[in-house]
Amino acid sequence: MKNENIVELKGISVAFGGEKVLDDFNLEIKDKEFVTLLGPSGCGKTTTLRLIAGFLEPDGGDVIFEGRRINDLPGYKRHVNTIFQRYALFPHLNVYENVAFGLRIKKLPEKEIKAKVTEMLALVNLSGLEKRNIDTLSGGQQQRVAIARAIANHPRVLLLDEPLAALDLKLRKDMQKELKKMQEQLGITFIFVTHDQEEALTMSDRVVVMNNGKIQQVGTPQDIYNEPLNAFVADFIGESNIVDGKMLRDFYVEFSGQRFDCLDKGFEPDEPVDVVVRPEDVDIVAPDKGMLTGVVTSVAFLGVHYEIIVDIGGFKWMIQTTDEHFEGDRVGLYIEPDAIHIMKKSEYSGLYGDYSSYSEEIDHLSDADYGEEDGGE
Ligand SMILES: Nc1ncnc2c1ncn2[C@@H]1O[C@H](COP(=O)(O)OP(=O)(O)OP(=O)(O)O)[C@@H](O)[C@H]1O
Ligand SMILES: [Mg+2]
Repeated sequence: MKNENIVELKGISVAFGGEKVLDDFNLEIKDKEFVTLLGPSGCGKTTTLRLIAGFLEPDGGDVIFEGRRINDLPGYKRHVNTIFQRYALFPHLNVYENVAFGLRIKKLPEKEIKAKVTEMLALVNLSGLEKRNIDTLSGGQQQRVAIARAIANHPRVLLLDEPLAALDLKLRKDMQKELKKMQEQLGITFIFVTHDQEEALTMSDRVVVMNNGKIQQVGTPQDIYNEPLNAFVADFIGESNIVDGKMLRDFYVEFSGQRFDCLDKGFEPDEPVDVVVRPEDVDIVAPDKGMLTGVVTSVAFLGVHYEIIVDIGGFKWMIQTTDEHFEGDRVGLYIEPDAIHIMKKSEYSGLYGDYSSYSEEIDHLSDADYGEEDGGE
């Protein structure tokens, strides 16, 4: 059972007003899997959920549910429920009636509804709040009502569109753990949307990284982090130093004017490549012991570690270390072969990786966060 695809998207294209929003989109999701769509605002995450939920028909390609094409099957006939970013609870109904809503439509006997609602409220830790009005609940409690309502009639697939975005960090972390536990307990396939890479990495069996309506990479959190396929993925997931390089031969690469052993192979001799080195994988050593040398241009203390920018021949590297260094220090960098990841050149080459505009990048990211409010509905 575990290996069967429950949802498949095959060659999907969607355009709005001539603008392509999803382009040759192919994705297979296994039964009981926790899959996360991750990508920047506007990349097509909500659109993908709407296709699966049946709120939108693709212009081309097929939506498959358990091997059956369902392009024109109306949403209410699909075994799929959605939790929207704004929970869309019924404000005039109390907690009990919100959760009972879908069961009433199904015309279940009152006794069965009561048992089901009680079970669901216990599952989301809201027992005792049955009679409360929705507008007297905290954001976190409303979130739980939305979850209870969405799983009450046991959908096969639950679509969650940035369900935790409105919660503060602490509550968000708690809910991440609870949702994950619930998914395992209930045995429901979760298709989760977020633009928060840490959330995607901690919760998912597999992550789908998207940009501009196209899948950039699909893989386990470890795959995506350790073996990014292109500069977009490397930059979007975690912090990365991405430099131009040349693959001299198998297991041997040149960048920043030096030659390094690495673990990658299968490139043409002298093929131009993008080289990724994660900030936590670089050791700072004495200048005469370094494979590269440079000058520290900035130091920030972040609690567990320091984030240090080192200028190597005009390219700014970011390094994370628990050792203290000071602006103006001349240092050496030591990079082990397994810290070096080689990627094919792509349309994203040269766009990321230099931290000279580091603070601007941070500003830009936090701006983007505020622009996120509209879940695309
Ligand atoms: N009904 C629509 N009509 C016209 N354009 C649309 C429609 N729905 C979505 N779009 C456009 O399609 C693109 C993808 O939208 P979508 O809502 O899927 O993005 P998203 O990845 O969910 O972004 P966010 O993280 O901001 O929610 C956007 O450019 C959006 O403006
Ligand atoms: Mg969206």
